[in-house]
Amino acid sequence: MSRRAWIHALVAAALAVAALLFIRLHNAGGAPLAQDSVSAGRQLAEAWCKECHALEMSNSGTLGRAPDFVRIANRISTTELSLKVFLRSNHRSMPNLIIAPNQADDLAQFILSLKRN
Ligand code: HEC
Repeated sequence: MSRRAWIHALVAAALAVAALLFIRLHNAGGAPLAQDSVSAGRQLAEAWCKECHALEMSNSGTLGRAPDFVRIANRISTTELSLKVFLRSNHRSMPNLIIAPNQADDLAQFILSLKRN
């Protein structure tokens, strides 16, 4: 091969490596997978919500009147948006926890993952 051909081959190889790296970095920084969001939401719910809301279907009353998350998830009116709006607004009977928007996303994904149908 001529010297020129070698240089071309090298440049092509370097470009290919750069392109691969770019794709990898791009993916790593991209949106979290839905499954990660669900498990992050479950952890938050265990820390913050479980004292009042059962995370699974339950008959045994947790501290009184809070509906369990399975029941909430299966209401026709429950959507990702309704959950986020609820989590970001004031409630009379539920404490106003300070929840960051990405945490509200995770909690909403987790609750929706409990939907049965
Ligand atoms: C101190 C008890 C308590 C804690 C802690 C609590 N909740 Fe509640 N939550 C309630 C009660 C009581 C209701 C029902 C009354 C109401 O809708 O305001 C409720 C209702 C809800 C509803 C249903 C709203 C609807 O559409 O009827 C959602 C969704 C909800 N909670 C999510 C959460 C999440 C997510 C957390 C944790 C970040 C949490 N709650 C923590 C007591 C609590």
